[in-house]
Amino acid sequence: MSGRELVRSMWVFGRVRGPRALRSVWRQRRADAAGLPRRGPEQARVPGRVVGAEPLPGGGIVRFARSELRVCVTAGAAVFWGWDGAEPLPSYALAGEVPEPDGRVVLEPDTEGGWRVVAERVTVAVSRNGAVEVRTPGGVVLRRELPPRWWEPVGGGGARWVQRSEVPADARFFGLGGRAAGPRLPEGTYRLWNSDPRGAFGPGTDPLYLTMPVQWVVADAGTHLAFYDSTWDGRVSLREGGEGAGSGHDRPGLSEVRMDGGPLRCWVVVGSPARIAHGWAQLTGAPAVPPSWALGPQHARWGFGSAEEVRRVVAGYRKRGLPLSAVHLDIDHYEGHRVFTVDRERFPDLPGLAAELRERGVRLVSIVDPAVKAEPGGAVYGSGARVGARGAFVRDARGEVVRGVVWPGECVYPDFTDPQVRRWWGGLYAERLEQGFSGVWHDMNEPVSFTPFGDMTLPRSARHSLEGRGGDHREAHNVYGLAMARAGYEGLARLRPEERPFLFSRSGWAGMQRYGGTWSGDVATGWPGLRASLALVLGLGLCGVPYSGPDVGGFDGHPSPELYLRWLQLGAWLPLFRTHSAIDAGRREPWEFGAEVLEHAREAMAERERLRPYFVTLARLARLTGAPYARPLWWAAPEDRRLRDCGDAFLLGDALLVAPVLARGARRRVVRLPRGRWYDVATERAYEGPGLVLVDAPLSRVPVLARAGAVVPVRGAGGAVELEVWAPASDRAGGGLLVRDTGDGWDPAEVERYVSRWKGGEVRVERVTGEGTVAVGPEGVRVRGLGGAG
Ligand code: GLC
Repeated sequence: MSGRELVRSMWVFGRVRGPRALRSVWRQRRADAAGLPRRGPEQARVPGRVVGAEPLPGGGIVRFARSELRVCVTAGAAVFWGWDGAEPLPSYALAGEVPEPDGRVVLEPDTEGGWRVVAERVTVAVSRNGAVEVRTPGGVVLRRELPPRWWEPVGGGGARWVQRSEVPADARFFGLGGRAAGPRLPEGTYRLWNSDPRGAFGPGTDPLYLTMPVQWVVADAGTHLAFYDSTWDGRVSLREGGEGAGSGHDRPGLSEVRMDGGPLRCWVVVGSPARIAHGWAQLTGAPAVPPSWALGPQHARWGFGSAEEVRRVVAGYRKRGLPLSAVHLDIDHYEGHRVFTVDRERFPDLPGLAAELRERGVRLVSIVDPAVKAEPGGAVYGSGARVGARGAFVRDARGEVVRGVVWPGECVYPDFTDPQVRRWWGGLYAERLEQGFSGVWHDMNEPVSFTPFGDMTLPRSARHSLEGRGGDHREAHNVYGLAMARAGYEGLARLRPEERPFLFSRSGWAGMQRYGGTWSGDVATGWPGLRASLALVLGLGLCGVPYSGPDVGGFDGHPSPELYLRWLQLGAWLPLFRTHSAIDAGRREPWEFGAEVLEHAREAMAERERLRPYFVTLARLARLTGAPYARPLWWAAPEDRRLRDCGDAFLLGDALLVAPVLARGARRRVVRLPRGRWYDVATERAYEGPGLVLVDAPLSRVPVLARAGAVVPVRGAGGAVELEVWAPASDRAGGGLLVRDTGDGWDPAEVERYVSRWKGGEVRVERVTGEGTVAVGPEGVRVRGLGGAG
């Protein structure tokens, strides 16, 4: 055990009485010894030689001596391939219907004894020994899957497999869910097993709470996403390629995916970043749109202590004129940490408190942990035991209910992979709504069972319904949080049908955006943690989960005033803008760090409020297009290699480039600009990209640059939406989109499209309608950047 692991174990030990956690390790091991098939001798297998092929809509089946491969290109140009009869369904990731195959695709033999599936936007070439290449229509190879290899237990049973892939030498990897080391994933091995890192984490900690077998590959030849749709434990090893400096011998980049089980099947989506994000959302579902209030500043803390303290904090925000949208109550408002209860001594009238805060425009959000205290007489425990014939809780191979240890002590775990259990659990949210909560925050749903060492989760042998198919925790673990999110989302939508649910969840998997967002989890207080916060948001956005953000100020310890401020200044530009911290951490209210920090925090929060119409627009566009609000810089120009390595700035929508300060003492910073003209929004000074520029980053703000021509919806002085227009370069036009806030219900979004251009020596803005364009302004339009334009 490393020193760091030891410290973490002590942390867990300190919080949950040690002997209980130890007992839980022992129980876990005993259950697995009895309930898991023993790994006996295994036999390796490769596909062997091609023996024939048969066309099917969208592609066909290519048969090999020892396997067969199904290839299908969908009408949206997504490529599916699956070995050994694997089909797209069943899948926890897919949104439901499998997209229609592209009817115009042809399957034809190639000259080397293999087969080729030719579609309009992509070609899939299958070699005679089972390599699969995804190529552009021009024949450039984007990804080459080498023939896979399986290891099968001699006595039968599921196979482990490995799939190696080559990508272009210049390619960079992104994604894999929430990775603290990103956004560009450094070479190394990443585990696919949702894990609580035991205490606060930094950039070197892996895996974290939310992993996904989804990788983005950005290369000169083109960008693509590859998704290996297996929920099992796995490892992805990445190696970047190298270019043979003039020798002509490039070394390809390499991805190696090893899975302990599950089907060997993959989706590949190619195209521009925007097109890929759209294709991914079509496959795995459109992101839920958070209610508008969830785009404002939020304050959480583990250990508020009482209703009085909540009132004090809210009053503190008010007194200082700081905006506040929501307060989150953590496990300490529960009775003895039991989910769906309230400590009535400390919170005697929660509905009353909620109503009082609501009048001031502040919502209450409740933490919801999945584990239920195992105690006779416990209401949730009792009602769970009565669900269906066997009760709602996960059982082991012998049929006994599995017990673990979480905050309330000994606990049992609902099996969210059972539709009946999801329905029961969703119904429990009625209690939260009666208490006055407006939204929920799912936590500890990797799921966690505290242990001082080893895997802090359920025994791998634990049984799950898996939608009636039956299976064990090895297959269900990674989708536990996703299935819980579904239960919560569907419950809230049923119970309060007139409002969109607000839900975000620590753990999850591909497709979780259908139900809500996520957050960083327990990011360590320190400059490295600040950097990791941004990496997580960008990586998760690429994987389809656009709504997330960090614990502003870091989860543990005491940030310096400067660190706190820089964190808040970053958080103000991210979708979920929330301060949060551990029970033993220092305060996180903006006024706790001195007058100067308070002043600058106020400015950052005011700017966030001013940009709310832009955030509302981005939230709606994320649903319509799959594009995350916060995007890596290469989104704008994936062919610019230098942008791929840039992890210290991001694009917020199409209009803005945010360059947070991630280093102590920095009062200026270097920003790498994509091509085009960019204005520093504070000084209106214009810079020309591509290239590096040095910009001021005083303590009062972080650098933000606006793209020339951008039309950005903002909140005007009277509260109405105004258009802030950044002068286009003289020979260029620009534009932007606006989706107006239609409240927290389900009213459809109408996208308004604007263009900006120079006309008669002036910058004009026009709205594009079905019939043509209509001039807008000068009222409600503010042109900026005129000093730097020309
Ligand atoms: C976990 C969560 C954290 C929360 C704490 C207590 O550590 O990640 O946000 O405050 O549990 O519920």
